[in-house]
Amino acid sequence: MAAPELAQTEPEGIEGVRMTWLNWPRSKVEASKCVIPIATSIQPIRPHVDLQILPYAPLRCKTCSAVLNPFCRVDFTAMIWICPFCFQRNHFPQHYNSISQTNLPAELYPNFPSVEYLIPNYQNSQNFNQSSPIYLFILDTCMIEEELEFAKSSLKRALGMLPENAMVGFISYGTQVQVHELGFSEMSKVYVFRGSKDISKDQVLEQLGLSVSGGRRPGPGMHKGGGGGGPSPVAGAGPGINRFLLPASECEYTLDSLLDELSTDQWPIAPGNRALRCTGVALSVGSGLLSASMAGTGARIILLVGGPCTEGPGSIVSKDLSDPVRSHKDLDKDAAPFFKKAVHFYDELGKQLVNQGHVLDVFASALDQVGIAEMKVAIEKTGGLVVLSESFGHSVFKDSFKRIFEVGGEQSLGLAFNGTLEINCSKDIKVQGIIGPCTSLEKKGPSVASTVIGQGNTTAWKMCGLDKSTCLTIFFDVSSSEKSDPAGPSSQLYLQFLTSYQSSDGQMRLRVTTVTRRWAVGSEDLVQGFDQEVAAVIMARLASYKMEMEEGFDATRWSYDALSVFNNSPDETAYFRILLNRETISNAVVMIQPSLISYGFDSLPGPALLDVQSIAADRILLLDSYFSVVIFHGMTIAQWRNMGYQNQPENQGFAMLLQAPQEDSQLIIRDRFPVPRLVVCDQHGSQARFLLAKLNPSATYSNAQDMMHPGSDVIFTDDVSLQVFIEHLQRLAVQAS
Ligand SMILES: *[C@@H]1O[C@H](CO)[C@@H](O)[C@H](O)[C@H]1NC(C)=O
Ligand SMILES: *[C@@H]1O[C@H](CO)[C@@H](O)[C@H](O)[C@H]1NC(C)=O
Ligand SMILES: *[C@@H]1O[C@H](CO)[C@@H](O)[C@H](O)[C@H]1NC(C)=O
Ligand SMILES: *[C@@H]1O[C@H](CO)[C@@H](O)[C@H](O)[C@H]1NC(C)=O
Ligand SMILES: [Zn+2]
Repeated sequence: MAAPELAQTEPEGIEGVRMTWLNWPRSKVEASKCVIPIATSIQPIRPHVDLQILPYAPLRCKTCSAVLNPFCRVDFTAMIWICPFCFQRNHFPQHYNSISQTNLPAELYPNFPSVEYLIPNYQNSQNFNQSSPIYLFILDTCMIEEELEFAKSSLKRALGMLPENAMVGFISYGTQVQVHELGFSEMSKVYVFRGSKDISKDQVLEQLGLSVSGGRRPGPGMHKGGGGGGPSPVAGAGPGINRFLLPASECEYTLDSLLDELSTDQWPIAPGNRALRCTGVALSVGSGLLSASMAGTGARIILLVGGPCTEGPGSIVSKDLSDPVRSHKDLDKDAAPFFKKAVHFYDELGKQLVNQGHVLDVFASALDQVGIAEMKVAIEKTGGLVVLSESFGHSVFKDSFKRIFEVGGEQSLGLAFNGTLEINCSKDIKVQGIIGPCTSLEKKGPSVASTVIGQGNTTAWKMCGLDKSTCLTIFFDVSSSEKSDPAGPSSQLYLQFLTSYQSSDGQMRLRVTTVTRRWAVGSEDLVQGFDQEVAAVIMARLASYKMEMEEGFDATRWSYDALSVFNNSPDETAYFRILLNRETISNAVVMIQPSLISYGFDSLPGPALLDVQSIAADRILLLDSYFSVVIFHGMTIAQWRNMGYQNQPENQGFAMLLQAPQEDSQLIIRDRFPVPRLVVCDQHGSQARFLLAKLNPSATYSNAQDMMHPGSDVIFTDDVSLQVFIEHLQRLAVQAS
């Protein structure tokens, strides 16, 4: 078959890869002069219409195990391919006999750097349907009635959306933890755990009667009909786990009625106290329960939390309401007595989940902080999702939550499980590490750099949860001593990214992306291939990482006022950082610098300056500041609209003008997770502040009331123009050479 042509539209292309430097510095000396690091952002499972899906196993180099790719030199007569990484000559196997220059296998198509292998005959040895991911819901009940009702109705809707074979479990908690059996619609049993004391995985299994080593098992007399009959539906499960994890189709009714009866936590709250909420123990119990399923089985803990943990391990504040939740100032002064212990707790929880291959998602709804800053480590290491909103009744929560359960379809996030990323690179390239939602697998090798950034010391990473927009930033170093290569000097360098994962439809897949770039010939060549947009985002990620890891790191020196934590709560900062690190380059740019589009009668919609001077009575503005999307009608436009001009046949142009920003905003909202808040407002209206806060840097909100609302966009006000920043980066880059 002749190789097809590739339709290129976006900068990521089919590779899903963007780099700070297109041409790489050749030597360590040259590299050390570059202020902007050599880094690559990759969307490991980016969807692409031209992606070739190959229903067979990949061919691997017998020396370095790199996968056959379009950059291999092929001798069709001798039926040999030469590996661009180690120069090994490999023979094609028999079944490639028919290939030729004009009949290429898809993995050799030039210009198709990414292909995906469907691992055939992927059958688990256990009696388990691989396409059955587990959803374990953990619901906080220390909420006001109204909030709990909102949360319940979203849960019910989710249950209705899950594929029939998806496995479901349910835990509720307040001051104590309740694990609910779902296997029996009548007489369903609840296992209660104290919230004040940490509990190990083995203790959880023991108490639930799931321990394999002779623990207490539910006798046949315990329930009529017992849960033990028939094969267990959960992979490698201990006995009886199907009392707790059931296919959605079998437990929807039970869980629905259970939710109907569930009330807010009844534990008394003393005056002047917070509710005793044991989020930490609830997560330990959830993780322990999931440990009874086989490691690597797709599973996510979906936590719905309405306030701070105040009971047991993982607590972030005392129960006394007169102690405020920690601020950045407290953290700086080391005056947050719960912080380090809580972070340690969630770090350990994250490690356990990573070992099991499971994901932690957190949906928080509260006016105060709930502890995202402490939980961040577990969310990020497992590749979990996080959404902060001010109410479970708000569309930011409701619409985001719904997205998780959409399978297939346009709006689907394409959630995948049990991912592993491995990197192969040309000899002189070393990997320093990754910033983003993953965990180092500590796989040492010759291409591991000695200096570590983020998750390092490895060429392989675990991504328990990933989706089609998940993005990672990989930092590289070059080690070339410029001594001669046995294969002669090569002008090209190669990188290969191998991502194996379980797709949302349950298939085991391996995405192989092989890219080549040129070694730069001198400084001029280096500077020519500098990608400003990628550099801006990657420097933001690096600065935010350093602010977290290095005490006293001064981001203003990097021109990064935009990342300032001043005026934000630690939860808001953590939320921002998690998203900044996992978003695509184009979305991350919007996080750093909002985009503004102006619509008018006399011109096509076009970008406008983020300045009050862009406001005009006869124009509509569309602001995208990532967390919110604002449609702002100029005064005249608003008046005409109020008078209904758009409904008169002769004013079709006006109707279209009103419609255009609405449609464009829907396009933004459709593709973004968390779903942004949509604000439609008029000049001089009360909601106009959502636009004004972004336009006038001096008009940042100092109003404490506004700061209390996580998810309200005023919290992420930026003070630095991206243009200024990019110019700064450019100067640095040029200086370097
Ligand atoms: C596994 O699940 C898929 C998707 O629902 C279904 O089509 C298939 O029949 C199931 N296989 C087994 C062995 O249960
Ligand atoms: C999880 O991924 C690993 C590494 O790719 C693989 O060996 C394992 O079989 C997977 N497990 C499951 C249950 O899919
Ligand atoms: C490629 O990756 C494999 C597996 O991680 C590793 O064993 C091998 O040494 C790597 N080769 C190169 C050239 O990096
Ligand atoms: C990297 O590995 C070395 C030894 O192999 C160890 O001493 C070091 O602490 C590790 N660094 C990180 C950041 O994990
Ligand atoms: Zn090789």
